[in-house]
Amino acid sequence: MKQTVQTKSGRYEIIIEKGAFARLAEEIAPIVGEGRLFVVTDDTVDGLYGDALRNHLSGMDVHYLVLPHGEGTKSLSHLSQIYSELALADMTRTDTLLAFGGGVIGDLAGFAAATYLRGIRYIGVPTTLLSQVDSSVGGKVAVNLPEGKNLVGNFYPPARVIIDPELLKTLPERVFNDGMAEVIKYGAIRDEALFTMLEGDISDKMEEIIHRCVDCKRRIVENDEFDTGERMVLNFGHTFGHVMEQLYHYQKYTHGEGVAIGMKRITRKTEEMGLTRPGTAQRLETLLKKYDLWFDESGFDRDAAMKTLFLDKKGSKDCIRYVIIEEIGNAVIRPFPKQDTFLID
Ligand code: NAD
Ligand code: GLY
Repeated sequence: MKQTVQTKSGRYEIIIEKGAFARLAEEIAPIVGEGRLFVVTDDTVDGLYGDALRNHLSGMDVHYLVLPHGEGTKSLSHLSQIYSELALADMTRTDTLLAFGGGVIGDLAGFAAATYLRGIRYIGVPTTLLSQVDSSVGGKVAVNLPEGKNLVGNFYPPARVIIDPELLKTLPERVFNDGMAEVIKYGAIRDEALFTMLEGDISDKMEEIIHRCVDCKRRIVENDEFDTGERMVLNFGHTFGHVMEQLYHYQKYTHGEGVAIGMKRITRKTEEMGLTRPGTAQRLETLLKKYDLWFDESGFDRDAAMKTLFLDKKGSKDCIRYVIIEEIGNAVIRPFPKQDTFLID
């Protein structure tokens, strides 16, 4: 399956196919051309797939950089390391960077590509479910600062994205389920048929599921590349999710788990308010349970949560805009008075 993303910043193809990794050289040849390739990956992915990658790319002139795994790698110091290695390897604007890993490697290497020599081509080969359905699509690239996540970044589209669902087979269950939270989100905001598919047996359906998620994100990004309007629907569940992540210092819940809590909580509340079709919250919660994404978050510190929420939304004036679902597959952005604490109560 192939999709083409067309935005103001560029046009690129996303290939989604079992076995695409084994055909990597062929898939990237039109982008790399006669140039050289600079691969950035992490140590976990390298341990699992490094030999196969070197084998698949054996006919190309490739420089490899293996970084430690984990969110800590999305830092200025590792960005600086990539710049130095690119320069030492004499990479030029006719060469291509390839990000082989999850969202951390994709965001970091993508930002390096966006800025080295004022921009060189980059190819994404995402290896986690989250990066296959979300971060590799849409051109957001970034690094974290000690002061906060994704504070330095850019919109910089890849030249191509190659997605092989087979790579997901080695993911630890919790990392897989973390990505499932974003998959469920796509169903909840835009694709009722996807949501229904997730309620059944998905064991042989990953390729189609990824395709549907990418298609959903592609359409949203094509309408609102720079995140000034519709793209906000991708943040369904994220506001309260961020609060939960931060309250527990990123130790208790993964990002996806926070999003799952956020989706559950806001949908319960909007259903009580009559803004969401009755039965929707129950259906969502049943699906979250299926992927080990249901948590009893009720014991949180309300004062601290309120502070975190309002700090997160400090740019908003009289109202805060939240993404809510009116029914499965139909998200809308709705303003709520700023003093309305319904998410915390
Ligand atoms: P990650 O890149 O840290 O990967 C999670 C873990 O899985 C890592 O330890 C990694 O080594 C390991 N891993 C990767 N592929 C594997 C495989 N095939 N088999 C076994 N283990 C594997 O985390 P992530 O969840 O992929 O990405 C999170 C990052 O993505 C965050 O920094 C977040 O800010 C960013 N993000 C960006 C966007 C965007 O639009 N750019 C969107 C969502 C999230
Ligand atoms: N992950 C949200 C976005 O790409 O806008």
